[in-house]
Amino acid sequence: MESIVIRGGRPLHGEVTVSGAKNSALAIMAATILQGDEHKISGMPGLRDIATMKKLLQYLGAEISGSDELIINTGNIACQEAPYELVKTMRASFLVLGPLVARFGRAKVSLPGGCAIGLRPVDYHIKALEAMGVSITIDKGYVHAVCSKLKGASILFDMPTVGATENVMMAACLAKGTTTIKNAAREPEVVELAKALRHMGAYIKGEGTDTIVVEGERPLQPLAYRVMPDRIEAGTLIVAGGITGGDIRILNCPVECMGSTLEKLRDIGIDIEEDKDVVRVRRKGDLQPVEITTHPYPGFPTDMQAQVMALLTVTKGTSIIRETVFENRFIHVAELDRMGAHIKVEHDTAVVTGVKQLKGASVMATDLRASASLILAGLAAEGTTVVSRVYHLDRGYESLDKKLYKLGADIQRQQV
Ligand code: EPZ
Repeated sequence: MESIVIRGGRPLHGEVTVSGAKNSALAIMAATILQGDEHKISGMPGLRDIATMKKLLQYLGAEISGSDELIINTGNIACQEAPYELVKTMRASFLVLGPLVARFGRAKVSLPGGCAIGLRPVDYHIKALEAMGVSITIDKGYVHAVCSKLKGASILFDMPTVGATENVMMAACLAKGTTTIKNAAREPEVVELAKALRHMGAYIKGEGTDTIVVEGERPLQPLAYRVMPDRIEAGTLIVAGGITGGDIRILNCPVECMGSTLEKLRDIGIDIEEDKDVVRVRRKGDLQPVEITTHPYPGFPTDMQAQVMALLTVTKGTSIIRETVFENRFIHVAELDRMGAHIKVEHDTAVVTGVKQLKGASVMATDLRASASLILAGLAAEGTTVVSRVYHLDRGYESLDKKLYKLGADIQRQQV
């Protein structure tokens, strides 16, 4: 098992480049199922989750080569089953359901099950596909989907859901007639998927708003697309600059879709200078406490909550963080408290009382963003922090330890 060892207290300096967006790349990879041809996706991040999606597509029969530029040929897909062994390791595997049932009229996809941050049901995905004429039964932990002819439908989600919006958008491209998705997710990764589908020939409008309209049955072509930069990695790197009091430049930063994140980090006291897709990050004086509530896009992203909490643990004063998207996304609190943070959790709210100094400790990563939070805390802590179970980190960050090392952090990976 690998751990990451950090000796804290070193301000970061230098330049770092943001990698491709995990949550955009995964959806676009699933979309290649819709059209049996050779697709090219460039700007791919080197992540465990990408490797898992590659494995799943190959299990279905796709031929895949390349790494930074993925060549995916889905012409010979002969299997429409996504097995539990793969789906349980990565919930985004469920995104193959819509494309499989749309192209082949059937699919057998394992229920993803919950994960550390919440139960994460898929009822919205199922209800929406049923409205499009898919008959779905759940048996022995699998979703069995059959459909002779997919038809467009008007879908209204109780709450904006990224994955269900993406599954429906992809299926709707091959459905007969028009599909309208109301209360659609507005995340940039959903917008990117719509753009990629449009590049394939689909007729889609309204992405980025709460109503997306898809006209089905447009002939689709092979895709050639470049993945957008990862706004959550970019936000994480900005926190790294701020928590260490350094001066760093972050390249390939998607500032145009980071409004709420940048605003909140500036409120806390991080000086962020924008110059197109380059940001310069410094710290001006003391950090200030804030109140944060996570929301679906364009609100403050839940995927930045754990990282900003690490920053707030060393901020003068008391901050309040309310997590409204996932019901169990405070697991990092206990580990941060072991480093000397003062955080109290009551239901969906964490009260963070800033301390002068965190102390290095051995801590355990429990999920992707929690692992980033512990590393950020380790960068600021006095002494040595050992973060175990870093396979969580590698799911969604491309060589984050190496990137931080190049910025001057005393950080290394070790086998334990
Ligand atoms: C996507 O997950 C992201 N993952 C998550 O990023 C992100 O946190 C989340 O969107 C919210 O922004 C990928 O894109 C691969 P949701 P997703 O459906 O699609 C509930 C990371 O750290 N819900 O928008 O699974 C659900 O339980 C990961 O990179 C239902 O109740 O999120 C949650 O409370 C973590 N029924 C809320 O909606 C459903 O059928 C939002 O979930 C679907 C969702």
